[in-house]
Amino acid sequence: MFIHKNYNLQNKNSFGLNVSTKYFCEVDTLSELKEALSQVKGERILFLGSGSNILFTKNFDGFVLQFNKKGINKKDEEKDSVLLEVFAGELWDDFVAYCVENNYYGIENLSLIPGTVGAAPIQNIGAYGQELKDTFFALNGIFLSDFSEKTFFNSDCIFGYRTSMFKTELKNKFVITSVVFKLKKTDDLKINYGAIKQELKSIGKNNPLLADVRNIVIKIRQEKLPDPKILGNCGSFFKNPEVEKKHFENISQGFPSVKSFPVSESTIKIPAGWLIEQCGWKGKRIGNVGVHEHQALVLVNYGGAEGKDILQLANAIKEDVYQKFEIQLEEEVNIV
Ligand code: EPU
Repeated sequence: MFIHKNYNLQNKNSFGLNVSTKYFCEVDTLSELKEALSQVKGERILFLGSGSNILFTKNFDGFVLQFNKKGINKKDEEKDSVLLEVFAGELWDDFVAYCVENNYYGIENLSLIPGTVGAAPIQNIGAYGQELKDTFFALNGIFLSDFSEKTFFNSDCIFGYRTSMFKTELKNKFVITSVVFKLKKTDDLKINYGAIKQELKSIGKNNPLLADVRNIVIKIRQEKLPDPKILGNCGSFFKNPEVEKKHFENISQGFPSVKSFPVSESTIKIPAGWLIEQCGWKGKRIGNVGVHEHQALVLVNYGGAEGKDILQLANAIKEDVYQKFEIQLEEEVNIV
C-alpha cells in the first residue's frame, strides 16, 4: 500500500480527462483500506471503481481510493441456482464471462458494461432487459465513519432505475468490498429486447444458447457504443426520463415517431437518446467534445477536452431538450 501525492487520474477515468487528486491509494485488503484511511485524515474521500461513470470537472482536492481485491467464490449451490461472492475489484465483464462459461444465467445481457463489480450495485446497472437487482443477493462493506462492517440484502438497498441507497444517502459513506449474486443454472434467457430480437432474427437463431446471447450483446454494444480506450466516454450520460402519460401524448401528437416504454399506469419512459437526436445534437462536435454519431446518449472526449467542456455541452443539450419538450434531463454519470 502506497499513498501517492498529486496523482494524475487520466488513466483512471474513462473520459480520459487530465485531472489529478491530492492523494491516491490502491488497496487490496480491508486492513490496508483501514490503514490508508487512518494515515490521511480530514480529507474529502472518493472511492473509484474503474472510473467509467464519473466526470471530473476539476482536480480532486481530497483522497481517492481504489479497492482492487479480485476473486470469485462459490458460497452455496443448489439444484437450480448458485450463490457467488465476488470481490469489488473484479472487472464486471470478466465476471459476466465467468458466469457464461459456467452456464450461470442472469447477467449475460449485461455483457461488456465497463466498470467493476463493486461499482455495479451503486447505480443498479442495466441493459437489454436485465438489471443487476434481478440477480443481486447481498453486498458486504464498511462504513467510513467507524470502519464497522455491514451486509446489505437486496431489499435493504433501495434499488431503482440506475440508482440505489449507495448513490444517495450512503454516497461516500460506505465502501462496498464484495457482492453476492444468486444466479440460475437453468435456461432463463431474456431475449425480448428489440435489438436482441432483431439480431437473433437476422442470424436465424430461434433457440439461442447463453453464449449466443452474450455474443449478440457484445456485437450490439460494439456497433453502437464507442470504446473508451479509443474515444473517451462514460456510456449513457443521461438517464431516460419518466414523464406523465398526458405529457407523452402531447409529444407524440407533434412527433409520431417518439419511442416509449411504460413504467406505471400513469408514467412513461422516453429514450433520452431520441430526445437529444430530435434536437439535432447527434453526431455534433464542439471543439474537443461531442455527441456520439451512433448513440446520442453518449458524450465523447475527442482528446484534450476538460471536464468543464463536457459539462457545458451537457448543459446546452439539457437546455435544448427542455425548450423543445419541457423535459428536464438528469445526468446518469457522477459529476465531481
Ligand atoms: N434512440 C434514438 N436515438 C439515439 C439513441 C437511441 O432514437 O441516438 C432510440 C432508439 O431508436 C431506441 C431507443 O432510443 O428505440 C432506446 O435506445 P437503446 O436501445 O440504445 O437504449 P437507451 O435507452 O438509449 C439504455 C441504457 C444503456 C443500455 C441500453 C440497452 C440508460 C440511461 N441507458 O440506453 O446503458 O446499454 O439501454 O439496454 O438507461 C449506460 O448506462 O451507460 C448504458 C449504455
